[in-house]
Amino acid sequence: MKEILLTGGLGYIGSHTAVETLNAGYKVIIADDLSNSKIEVLDKIKQITNKDVKFYQIDVCNKEELEKVFAENKIFGVIHFAGFKAVGESVKEPLKYYQNNVGSTLTLLETMKKYDCKNIVFSSSACVYSPVNQMPVKEDGNLEASNPYGRTKLFIEHILKDFQNANPDFDVTVLRYFNPIGAHESGLLGEDPNGIPNNLMPYICKVAVGELDHLNVFGNDYNTKDGTGVRDYIHVVDLAIGHVKALDKIVKADDCGFRIFNIGTGIGYSVLDVVETFNKSNGITIKYQITERRPGDIDSYFSSAKKAEEELGFKATRNLEEMCKSSYKYYSAKKR
Ligand code: UFG
Repeated sequence: MKEILLTGGLGYIGSHTAVETLNAGYKVIIADDLSNSKIEVLDKIKQITNKDVKFYQIDVCNKEELEKVFAENKIFGVIHFAGFKAVGESVKEPLKYYQNNVGSTLTLLETMKKYDCKNIVFSSSACVYSPVNQMPVKEDGNLEASNPYGRTKLFIEHILKDFQNANPDFDVTVLRYFNPIGAHESGLLGEDPNGIPNNLMPYICKVAVGELDHLNVFGNDYNTKDGTGVRDYIHVVDLAIGHVKALDKIVKADDCGFRIFNIGTGIGYSVLDVVETFNKSNGITIKYQITERRPGDIDSYFSSAKKAEEELGFKATRNLEEMCKSSYKYYSAKKR
């Protein structure tokens, strides 16, 4: 059984990926500093899969701590999720973001090299694409991030490319996520941000359970069908399966390389589409008000999902209704 290290494996995407990776027959080791996750998630992962998971509470930037993980295990590959991800905070504290996101990746690559672990899948983001691209955007679209968080993702992609160039026996896969929402069907795992959420689905869920009064829809004068922003929402379980497909490809491939894939559905939905589907699938009504545009937002972006389908055999299968239902199920269970 191949051992896979998940940095940030107790976070929202990491925890769902841990489940799918275990279900696919890999052994999972999680390294997480609990800075934006909870230790209870580890038990939930074990409960869902009925499998054991080795856990290290460490900061991936800490070389000595990270070395211990590699020294004590025979790690075949790493899925690198660990990183800060709040766009607004990254504008206020850019150095914190560069230090943590870029720094942890450098430490990780050095350590992987030292311990002869040559496979990495990196958690990148659709926010590395410039808004000038035509949608659906393909992997060879123009790149330009518009905030420090996005730039950490873009710089790390460049670092990985340079590193793979210099070390051609390394296999590097970059996954550019679109907008992950939804939760595990068990209701045990989901997205659980502290305070007022920045992102659409957690905000809607907080309105749904009465923690917030209404949703603010950021602008209805965008160049989209109903004027509200359009995004490519992907069920987090589908996204998790995308990682397993990337691992399977690494295991099967004869050659090493540097590969980039969009992980989305290829479909764009507006904010009002999401609200309407949430209402219909959960039998409730989300109150909303149209407010000003949020600075930095763009009209529309959604992926071309073809490359992942052709080369990884990955296709998202869960629809918007399932995303809305599972999100609400997780949130309302948590509330009780
Ligand atoms: N929106 C609202 N009200 C809210 C929150 C969001 O109307 O309270 C709207 C936004 O204006 C946008 C859409 O809902 O049109 C989606 O917004 P999110 O904040 O959920 O997601 P973004 O597309 O802005 O950004 C997300 C992640 C980023 C990531 C990016 C691309 O937050 O980290 O997707 O992957 F970089």
